[in-house]
Amino acid sequence: MDEFRREESGSQRFGFWTELQSLSLGDADKPFVTDTPTILIGGGGHAKVVLDAAQCAGVEILGFFDDDSDAPISRMPSCPQYLGGFKQLGSFSNATIMLAIGDLSLRSNLIDQLGQVEFSTPIIHPSAIIAKNATISDGVFVGPGAVVNTDATISAHAIINTGSIIEHDCQIGMNSHIAPRVVLGGGVRIGNHTLIGIGSTVLPGVCIGTKCVVGAGSVVTQSIVDNETVVGVPARSIRVGVL
Ligand SMILES: CC(C)(COP(=O)(O)OP(=O)(O)OC[C@H]1O[C@@H](n2cnc3c(N)ncnc32)[C@H](O)[C@@H]1OP(=O)(O)O)[C@@H](O)C(=O)NCCC(=O)NCCS
Repeated sequence: MDEFRREESGSQRFGFWTELQSLSLGDADKPFVTDTPTILIGGGGHAKVVLDAAQCAGVEILGFFDDDSDAPISRMPSCPQYLGGFKQLGSFSNATIMLAIGDLSLRSNLIDQLGQVEFSTPIIHPSAIIAKNATISDGVFVGPGAVVNTDATISAHAIINTGSIIEHDCQIGMNSHIAPRVVLGGGVRIGNHTLIGIGSTVLPGVCIGTKCVVGAGSVVTQSIVDNETVVGVPARSIRVGVL
């Protein structure tokens, strides 16, 4: 961990921003490896992707929690140990936690439930490209082939999924999910707990609020208020309010 430096995130610039500690990647040529083993929360499809990335990156995964002991991850080669259901989650002195569930509302509930546990340093697939001065918080997952460009900030527990492109100066809120093959232009700001659906494009400088959903394949040309769902090209609003 020596090559990484802890620093305050630039979150105070935006109202919806978190005040969490962040990791700033110091050397994009070196894979991120932590000495502390990690426990995955979840055993479904997203957990399989996280496990694969962790193994490629040399991050030790101690085990996983899921209500289903026979969850898809259990059929992967070198599957980590099954540790129990979600109700059995507690705190761990010898391991950090990584949320490995795709569903955002379930992830939000677990973040509340888990409280003060120590969350994992980011798990970043070695094929991802991270700019030297991008800032990436604890609990973040960055998938294969993703790009996080210069001065982008990724807040805690966000998912930067397979092949997505986060351009310069983007700000991604806590526990937001940037789905596979999304392209965010420079300076895009996204609030907490927001889903940007598969293959969407967000034009440079657009601001998307908290708990929003952008439908798969959309092109977002204008800013979006909190709790809004938009779809299409150009994106149009189909719902404002709690999901
Ligand atoms: C946006 C989304 C959440 C809407 O789901 P929903 O609330 O169930 O909405 P519905 O399916 O009832 O559709 C409502 C309307 O929006 C349209 N619509 C839904 N998704 C759309 C999309 N992605 N693009 C264009 N139009 C879409 C529907 O055709 C329908 O139009 P109509 O009222 O004219 O008939 C969902 O379609 C979606 O795209 N989810 C993203 C999934 C994703 O990428 N997940 C990441 C996994 S890694």
